[in-house]
Amino acid sequence: MDEPVEDDGLARAGDLAQLQGSGHKSHLITLVPGGVLQTHRGVIRHDEIIGKPWGSRLQSHQGNPFYLFKPGLADLISQTKRTTQIMYPKEIGYILVKLGIGPGTRVLECGTGSGGLTTALAYMVGDTGRVYSYERNPGPQEVAKANLNKLGLAHRVNFRLGNAEEGFAERNLDALFLDLPNPYDYLGQVRASLKGGAHLGLLLPTSNQVVLTLEALKSANFAFIEVLEILIRYWKSDWKNFRPVDRMIAHTGYLVFARPVDSPLEDEPVLDSEPEADREAEGE
Ligand SMILES: C[S@@+](CC[C@H](N)C(=O)[O-])C[C@H]1O[C@@H](n2cnc3c(N)ncnc32)[C@H](O)[C@@H]1O
Repeated sequence: MDEPVEDDGLARAGDLAQLQGSGHKSHLITLVPGGVLQTHRGVIRHDEIIGKPWGSRLQSHQGNPFYLFKPGLADLISQTKRTTQIMYPKEIGYILVKLGIGPGTRVLECGTGSGGLTTALAYMVGDTGRVYSYERNPGPQEVAKANLNKLGLAHRVNFRLGNAEEGFAERNLDALFLDLPNPYDYLGQVRASLKGGAHLGLLLPTSNQVVLTLEALKSANFAFIEVLEILIRYWKSDWKNFRPVDRMIAHTGYLVFARPVDSPLEDEPVLDSEPEADREAEGE
């Protein structure tokens, strides 16, 4: 196997670059010779960026500072232009791990929305995998396409206009994620497209939706069902005043995961602790 080519650490024409101003405002651009970035804190010419080491401090024509960063996945997601609610990185991160998304994965999502999750899936599957992204509403899907085009990720995605009710054209998928209000109505369509035993993930804002979903998952022979929510608490990064921030987001949504099987165990245990805690208790 070839070793990856060592990077010279410099920003090049064609690279995606993040210009981070003071505070949290940042700009994502593809570096083009002759290009110009206009911001309300002044103008920066791409030619002044190309050839600079990543991490450099630059300044706009008004003298305002900007840092030059190679964007990570969270930076790409945070730049998503949105017409719908998009997922938070805290949920996206766990979904990617739980569904086993990596190079070569074939994954379907329904409810493209503005493409927050689509960006993460396309980033992870690489050029050998594929994302199939269904949405019933053309408006948000056009926004999602534009978002992924800007990031150079759209070629990894088949955007399909369609309602989950009509089912999905793909078969034997490795993973499938539904981000829509009534997934319990579409479990037959999900089963038809997923490989046996593969991963299904769902995001639901209310516990009422979760209850309906649990009942439907059971009757549609899904097993190893997990329900969780992810809470994140930021701390002030000030060593002299090190304490949690004053306000936090209390609730975003519930995540549900399950796997389609041919027949579930009659006495499948209901999870009553974290799966990791169970593993420790068993001494593994
Ligand atoms: C909350 S948004 C999805 C956000 C997206 N996951 C993101 O991170 O940007 C939900 C989307 O599901 C779509 N939707 C709802 N029901 C649907 C259905 N039955 N079939 C296809 N799309 C549906 C809506 O039009 C909406 O755009």
